[in-house]
Amino acid sequence: MDMMRRSTLARIASAVLVIGGIMQPTSAREMDKMWGEQVMKLKATDAERGQLFEEGNYAMFIHWGLYSHIGNLYKGKSYYGIGEWIMNRNMAGIPVDEYKALAKEFNPTDFDADAIAKLAKDAGMKYIVITSKHHDGFAMYHSKVNEFNIVDATPFDRDPMKELAHACKKHGLGLGFYYSHNQDWTFPGGGNGPKQTADGTKVDFKYYYENKCRPQVEEITTQYGPIAIVWFDTPGRIPREYVEELVDIVHKNQPNALVSGRAGYGLGDYQTLGDMEVPNANVEGIWETVDTTNDSWAYAWYDNYWKTPEDVLHRLVACVGRGGTYMLNIGPKGDGTVPELAVRTLRKAGQWIKRYPQVVYGTDASPWQHALPWGDVTMRDTTLSLCVFNTPLEGALYLPGLKTEIKSARLLGQRRRQAKLKVQRRDGWTKIQLPARISEKLVPVVQVELESRPDVDPGWGIDPSLETTILAQFATVTGAKQETRRWMEKFGEWKHVVRVWQWEQGGKASWEVNVLQPGYYNVDLTYNGKGRIVWGVDVEGGQHIQNQQNSSHNYQRFPIGWINFPGPGKYTVSVSCLEGDLAEASLKAIHFTFVD
Ligand code: GLC
Repeated sequence: MDMMRRSTLARIASAVLVIGGIMQPTSAREMDKMWGEQVMKLKATDAERGQLFEEGNYAMFIHWGLYSHIGNLYKGKSYYGIGEWIMNRNMAGIPVDEYKALAKEFNPTDFDADAIAKLAKDAGMKYIVITSKHHDGFAMYHSKVNEFNIVDATPFDRDPMKELAHACKKHGLGLGFYYSHNQDWTFPGGGNGPKQTADGTKVDFKYYYENKCRPQVEEITTQYGPIAIVWFDTPGRIPREYVEELVDIVHKNQPNALVSGRAGYGLGDYQTLGDMEVPNANVEGIWETVDTTNDSWAYAWYDNYWKTPEDVLHRLVACVGRGGTYMLNIGPKGDGTVPELAVRTLRKAGQWIKRYPQVVYGTDASPWQHALPWGDVTMRDTTLSLCVFNTPLEGALYLPGLKTEIKSARLLGQRRRQAKLKVQRRDGWTKIQLPARISEKLVPVVQVELESRPDVDPGWGIDPSLETTILAQFATVTGAKQETRRWMEKFGEWKHVVRVWQWEQGGKASWEVNVLQPGYYNVDLTYNGKGRIVWGVDVEGGQHIQNQQNSSHNYQRFPIGWINFPGPGKYTVSVSCLEGDLAEASLKAIHFTFVD
């Protein structure tokens, strides 16, 4: 890997790090602005506290609260977006008193903590983080300091957090509490909450902090046994001294607990990437991605876009392969039950993890530092686990740039005679031949034993048998802007892309690629923009092609044409925007498929 590419990867990785919690947003623009504020430091935690992340790598997130009872259907109207934000004026805009009155109807009698802990266990997850209080201010445990809680304000009369703490202990799982420390929409003085008390006295954040936030954080860190994490969120403009005190309280009461990065001011113990953000390049330090089984965090009655077991495994392996941890959310309903299709997905993915635990737990990041066309890689010492998400028709996996000697390659879960795989090496590439029939039907795993720790050139190889996608994120760019863009699809449903846009004449996005199979490759580009655009694609010192295609406001893929690589070896491929609205044209990826 040349120095230029290495520094590009490092720059991109650090760009991925400088993001964080969203806070106090009322519009997509404001929300977008907020993401940048959490300046993160990479923290080394002591061995015991770090273990959860080092070894666990997979956790359950639960968004459950009074909003689950509404499920995004309020007074006969459906609202689309993240369910726990139903009060917000971009959703149903429910006044505080009206919302508080709903607690009388909330009676989740079918809540079964044991079944949820067992589900997490069956799913292969190592700990659970649940909303003890979200932005709506409703405590899902018996709080002595504020009666807007599930025991005092509802007919339910049980403390589900007690039950969950007990169940987690029984099943050997860690337990963590999400706590919205800054935002509290129903308590006077809370972030985005009422500005005065019931008797009309004007109050500020300090009032909320002293009367609710601090004592509640004391409660959740002293009344539920040992806890693994306190997951603060959306710090917004909370003054630093409050965060310092909260972090101290957690560390004092729970010396083994980790504090989430979204506490604010870089005072947390680890990093949380953007919501639903699976990074494309390896990220240093201790970090997690939080994601959902469907689109919303909290239960939304219409939300049936479920991740399949394969989707979940793909995203899990991508996070572990990038060096992080994956926390996947479920949103139980207002009656306390977990939506059946989330259960199915989690169980099926969990059975796969039970078959191949070495792929997920206690592993290191992929030496390639990004995904490969057929799948992704995790590593333990001198063993590589190749997870095949996209089985090549030709039946061979191609690995670019692996320099280390290989002792053996085996297909796991296969009958003995067929398990040992043939390995060939040519022009810096490794070819591993798969058998015609593969027993593993979900995600096949090839285990490669190396002679020593892997030495890999992590540059991009163009796969001879599968389409290769290379993101604009990995390009070296001149005469155009390369930057992260975040937007909400539905309200609160975040999408992320690194794009190259605002092209000047002569601007270029270039990638160094390694070709094994000479010949013609079809090139497509994924971009958005305004109107028709002429794109050029060049092989440095070789062919130039160009073509006009239309564009759309969302990212879509368009064919450009065939390009020739005359022999095996390294090439520099560049994309330039030649005609059209150069400022708006926004490139996301280039795709190569071998034709002839
Ligand atoms: C955001 C949202 C919140 C959700 C969280 C999950 O911060 O405000 O509703 O709990 O993301 O990561």
